[in-house]
Amino acid sequence: MPELLWPSERYKDSFLNAAREAQEAGSGLGDTLALNLPAVTADFAAYLSSLRQYEPGQPLPEGYVHSETLWLVEGGEYLGRVNLRHTLNARLREFGGHIGYEIQPSARGRGYATQALHLALERARDLGLERVLLTCDVVNLGSRRVIEKGGGVLEGEFTVPGHTEPIRRYWIPL
Ligand SMILES: CC(C)(COP(=O)(O)OP(=O)(O)OC[C@H]1O[C@@H](n2cnc3c(N)ncnc32)[C@H](O)[C@@H]1OP(=O)(O)O)[C@@H](O)C(=O)NCCC(=O)NCCS
Repeated sequence: MPELLWPSERYKDSFLNAAREAQEAGSGLGDTLALNLPAVTADFAAYLSSLRQYEPGQPLPEGYVHSETLWLVEGGEYLGRVNLRHTLNARLREFGGHIGYEIQPSARGRGYATQALHLALERARDLGLERVLLTCDVVNLGSRRVIEKGGGVLEGEFTVPGHTEPIRRYWIPL
């Protein structure tokens, strides 16, 4: 069974393969597509620290909320990741929500995102959240299905400034 774990050097090779695959396919979360892979490969420890920079206990830059990144791992291989925001600000309330996820392209269609969300909801519950907001593009049928299978209750469809696609907002009570 896959697990959600803290990012670690142990998964360096499979993480880099997954990020390369996402970039070649042009399909993944924005920061993965924008990742400078040669720099990350050269100093993976610095990349791992950057993933932990918004965790509680660290000083937050203006406009940021506490958040964490967890990796979905199975059999020693990186498969995808979850970003979990501990609170919302006005922008995240509109678009972004508490939880974002991605699965590496070659691992999709096997239920991993469904499992990642299930594990992320357990983590959110452990953190004391009472309900979480998830948003996705209206055209992202895969993500819609994942959220609906996870118990998402549709708030509605919206357009948001700075984002070209209409979005859906869902709430999941915990
Ligand atoms: C969206 C994404 C996370 C789905 O990951 P996945 O591991 O393939 O999802 P699952 O295998 O858990 O599929 C869950 C359900 O969605 C359906 N599904 C998955 N991709 C789909 C697609 N492109 N179109 C329609 N349905 C899709 C599956 O059939 C499954 O439904 P079922 O259980 O009724 O059969 C993945 O495509 C991805 O990483 N996309 C890029 C990043 C992204 O969009 N993240 C979400 C941002 S809101």
